[in-house]
Amino acid sequence: MPPPRIIFYLSAGGVAVGSIVLFKELLGGSNYSGPEMLEGKTVIVTGSNTGIGRETALELARRKARVIMACRNLTKCKLARKEIIAETLNRNVVCRECDLSSFESIRQFAARICAKESTVDILINNAGVMRCPRTLSKDGIELQLATNHLGHFLLTMLLLDKITASENGRIVNVSSIAHMRGSINFDDLNSEKNYDPSSAYDQSKLANVMFTLRLAKELQGTGVTCSAVHPGLVNTEIGRHMSVYKSWLSLLFLRPFLWLFLKTPRQGAQTTLYAVLSPDATKSGAYYSDQREATPAASALDEAAQERLWQTSLKWTRLQT
Ligand SMILES: *[C@@H]1O[C@H](CO)[C@@H](O)[C@H](O)[C@H]1NC(C)=O
Ligand SMILES: *[C@@H]1O[C@H](CO)[C@@H](O)[C@H](O)[C@H]1NC(C)=O
Ligand SMILES: *[C@@H]1O[C@H](CO)[C@@H](O)[C@H](O)[C@H]1NC(C)=O
Repeated sequence: MPPPRIIFYLSAGGVAVGSIVLFKELLGGSNYSGPEMLEGKTVIVTGSNTGIGRETALELARRKARVIMACRNLTKCKLARKEIIAETLNRNVVCRECDLSSFESIRQFAARICAKESTVDILINNAGVMRCPRTLSKDGIELQLATNHLGHFLLTMLLLDKITASENGRIVNVSSIAHMRGSINFDDLNSEKNYDPSSAYDQSKLANVMFTLRLAKELQGTGVTCSAVHPGLVNTEIGRHMSVYKSWLSLLFLRPFLWLFLKTPRQGAQTTLYAVLSPDATKSGAYYSDQREATPAASALDEAAQERLWQTSLKWTRLQT
């Protein structure tokens, strides 16, 4: 008796699903596979309760670092921490409250770190918001500029002494290829005259790359490396404000398609891991994409604009009056 047709359909279906999964895995790129272990090193990852940040924290915990999860919501942070400890058996993972959109919260966080930690070896500026409706931070600054750029600027500056105290500290900024489209609107940095969620996002990501380059100059001779990475297009909560995610049409057609091409958070964490861990990633001021050095947008290389943004940021964060 020939096997029933259903068996045929089932196995054909199985092969199709298998191929799709394999295809997605291939598109997502390889895992960072260096052997580095981080015993005795202290790492801070901002926004690490979810998405790329969580995957990064998880992998660094697996490599035995002391991981400080800097998150806005401690309830969510503690949940993620529990999972990370359960998965890695590294109990040296802690939660510290830090809201990157609030200068006060950042100052409190940094003061605690400076008082309690002997060094900070790795700082990963990962937290971010994307294309949200115009909102002002507590300090009256447009939220994407506040969180993605100024908040991390202030955090990095406040922790700089701790990081330079480390033998070969690294600072990594999770930027985005979106910076290529960005321009810094010095006349309306805070988007008061005109707000477009997309341009404000691109602007904040360009600011990340410009700062990496400017910071690299500042850090010359300290042994600290700083770099910016493009994680790839990743399927995470950061897209929650994007309108394509909301309509039923997109739910039906666009999302399955996007799912195939967007990276998972684990895949999205690989270039950050490369920048943090790899012995090949010690060039300060580098920009990485797909675990390789890439060329940032020409606008990021404009040194006069870098300087102007640096000075403006010092003023806005009240590091300098
Ligand atoms: C990367 O690692 C994950 C689990 O840690 C595994 O499921 C996945 O297949 C790996 N990807 C590649 C491309 O090797
Ligand atoms: C933090 O997250 C929890 C759990 O998702 C939520 O119930 C709570 O409202 C959040 N707290 C704040 C301050 O956002
Ligand atoms: C990361 O970005 C922030 C905000 O743009 C900036 O202040 C900081 O210097 C950058 N750090 C690195 C390592 O690029």
